[in-house]
Amino acid sequence: MRAVVCRAYGPPESLVVQEVPAPRPGPGEVVVAVRAAAVNFPDVLIAADRYQVTMPLPFVPGSELSGRIVETGPGTTELSPGERVYASLPTGAFAERAVVPAASLTRIPGGMSFAQAAAAGVTYRTAHHALRSIARVRRGQWVLVLGAAGGVGSAAVDLARHFGARVVAAASGPEKLALCRARGAEHALDYTQPGLKTRIKECTEGGADIVLDPVGGPYAEQALRGMRRGGTFVTLGYAAGDIPTIPLNLVLLKGVAIRGLEVRTFAQDAPEESRRDMAELHALLAQGRIAPHIGARYPLERAAEALRLVADRSALGKVVLDVSEDD
Ligand SMILES: NC(=O)c1ccc[n+]([C@@H]2O[C@H](COP(=O)([O-])OP(=O)(O)OC[C@H]3O[C@@H](n4cnc5c(N)ncnc54)[C@H](OP(=O)(O)O)[C@@H]3O)[C@@H](O)[C@H]2O)c1
Repeated sequence: MRAVVCRAYGPPESLVVQEVPAPRPGPGEVVVAVRAAAVNFPDVLIAADRYQVTMPLPFVPGSELSGRIVETGPGTTELSPGERVYASLPTGAFAERAVVPAASLTRIPGGMSFAQAAAAGVTYRTAHHALRSIARVRRGQWVLVLGAAGGVGSAAVDLARHFGARVVAAASGPEKLALCRARGAEHALDYTQPGLKTRIKECTEGGADIVLDPVGGPYAEQALRGMRRGGTFVTLGYAAGDIPTIPLNLVLLKGVAIRGLEVRTFAQDAPEESRRDMAELHALLAQGRIAPHIGARYPLERAAEALRLVADRSALGKVVLDVSEDD
């Protein structure tokens, strides 16, 4: 089978597409014929060995896929070959076949495409847990989303609107701001321009109730300063590269809470809320009430270009690899 292989750590261009042996399922595992795989920011970091976890070389990158089950391992009685499924996994998605633990698979709702299923996993789960279980968003509250045209950000805008919140989107450049408005943001602010705190306070008439921040860098403190008293700031990631240092007196003076969310550990930390959130999210996706924005699609052979788009801050919403055609 063809796969994208990381043979040496480096930039996206160092990835190669080559023939590798097809995987076989072990107990509790299935093999999926991959139709679509979504690119995530950490894929770029893992290929460059700049992520929290080092993957031993060589490895197939890619952490989100959708496709059809082609083979089931011993003990996987609930799933059958031919079923349409999607999953997230540490690595291995950028290949024609991937082996996935059966417990990690979700059936794709009817009417949802393979590309949408691959693109809706990690980012929508992260944004949903952050809004519903961490910030406990309520109808009419102001939610400020940083990096609002990115993967997590655009999912957060979509879901915040679904929860009846009023959305301020912050992103860089006119194209990204236009996308945020098109997805329901009431205000869209270019956070690379000066005066972010003041502009947030002005457009929310006093400050944001909730901030979702997958970007960090220089924007986090400005966003915190633009909050209303008693609000909740959720730190989700550091796409800007720098982990911000926040003066604690701001927390005291504003009476805000700063909370973190790690989607991989949320199910262990809060199993009941995790199950409830997943069920709600699945229903919303199945009904088409929310949907990821797919800004670019590439064939598997051009995976390096897809990762380059994400690495260069040029992606709109999600970038998807079309790995193979459906039968
Ligand atoms: N906590 C969790 O469980 C969890 C789950 C998923 C992802 N994450 C993390 O969240 C972050 C965002 O993930 P994502 O999937 O939304 O990524 P993404 O689609 O690439 O979006 C990241 C956004 O960050 C902004 N950005 C600012 N400075 C940047 C820079 N120097 N390079 C690249 N982007 C920059 C960009 O928007 P502008 O150009 O508008 O600034 C971009 O749209 C990543 O750090 C990821 O690891 C965390």
